[in-house]
Amino acid sequence: MSVAEQAQAVKGFDIFDLSAPHATWQALREEQPVYHDPASGYWIVTRHADIKAVFDDYKTFSAENAQAPIRPLCADAKRIISEGGFTSGLSARMPPDHTRIRKVAQRAFGPRRFKSIEPKIEAIIDRTLNEAAGKGRFDFFREVAYPVPALVLFTMMGIPDEDVPKVKEWAVSRALVTWGELSDEDQITHAKGMVDYWAYCRDLVAARRENPQDDFPSDLLRAKAEGADITEEEIAGVMYSTLFAGHETTTTLMANAVITLMNNRAAWDEIRQDPSLISGATEEILRYSPSIVSWRRLAKADTNIGGIDVPAGANILMVMGSGNRDEAVFPNGEAFDIHRENARTHLTFGYGIHFCIGFQLAKMEFGIMLRELTQRFPNMTLQPDQQINYLHNISFRVPIRVDVDLGIGGSS
Ligand code: HEM
Repeated sequence: MSVAEQAQAVKGFDIFDLSAPHATWQALREEQPVYHDPASGYWIVTRHADIKAVFDDYKTFSAENAQAPIRPLCADAKRIISEGGFTSGLSARMPPDHTRIRKVAQRAFGPRRFKSIEPKIEAIIDRTLNEAAGKGRFDFFREVAYPVPALVLFTMMGIPDEDVPKVKEWAVSRALVTWGELSDEDQITHAKGMVDYWAYCRDLVAARRENPQDDFPSDLLRAKAEGADITEEEIAGVMYSTLFAGHETTTTLMANAVITLMNNRAAWDEIRQDPSLISGATEEILRYSPSIVSWRRLAKADTNIGGIDVPAGANILMVMGSGNRDEAVFPNGEAFDIHRENARTHLTFGYGIHFCIGFQLAKMEFGIMLRELTQRFPNMTLQPDQQINYLHNISFRVPIRVDVDLGIGGSS
């Protein structure tokens, strides 16, 4: 990129516009790797080493703003949330509470739970792809990527099927209140959704206390009964965090992967011919087209990032989507290469004490999906001439729809 092009790219920077951010990120990486964005007030950090250093220093860079509404809430929305008795989940908590609660939560993500969930994931994917095969041409996001991770997670979490639509709806409210640009009126509507979501998590935990099942909240309650240091309110907080974090992210990964692979046909064909490439390809897809492209931290003291002074109280936006393409770590980083040896050093799941707790589940689910898609629909293509539009927000690079043609003539 020429200097003039770089200057132009940075000038047009809008943290909410994730439709085609890579040129701007590259320009920022090269010219202003720690950039104070006048429009949002955020400090934008785009190099791999700097992002990793911020994630790693949790004392200087607190996670307490990770879930804060990007647009401050109006008085009515604030009141609704505070009257709802709402407390934090995991990702905005700080040690020592975070360390204590996460330790218990991690037990419920152990090998036993994963072993039992794998055949269920295979059955859900099988059923969904059989239905999709009958349609031939459809929106992959809506028909496949959207339902599968939700069904997997909700099975694991013990959410009854009839509650799935409202939980999905509340998750959208939660995302918009935190990362969107809502009007006051919309903030009030979605704040109510968030509070209902929170009440639902508390009620579910109370119900499992009375009547334990083979699911995640019952595992956490069992750990508590056996002496683990966690309250019932904190278990509801972990449910709230996990129920949100565990499906939209994987949905988006699947949808972004289809776009990337359809535009890199040779990689798709290679994976189809040799499924042992799936694990490496998964890391490269996570690096190249991640679901979460940025995450926040708050500077607790005057500090320095990559040689640039940053004041106490600064809101920091770490752009992992940019760090994942940093040439200093990934040679030819703008190119997609499923044989890349260090792809797994991407920052897509964060780094440090808050590192994604569900990363194994996401990879397992994604790997099965990739295997089944390449085997069943080798001739799948993107429908021609479509413009892919992305959700307007700062963190989740979500394509609104991804129209595909399975190349099997419309019925099975
Ligand atoms: C492709 C899928 C996923 C992506 C890209 C992703 C990404 C992330 C990121 C960036 C963080 C913040 C890390 C940090 O602050 O250092 C995070 C945290 C978290 N993720 Fe994920 N995630 C995914 C899937 C999942 C799944 C499947 C679950 C649960 C079933 C999950 C549960 C969580 C939880 C509970 C946290 C908070 C952990 C903590 O603060 O200690 N995630 N994830």
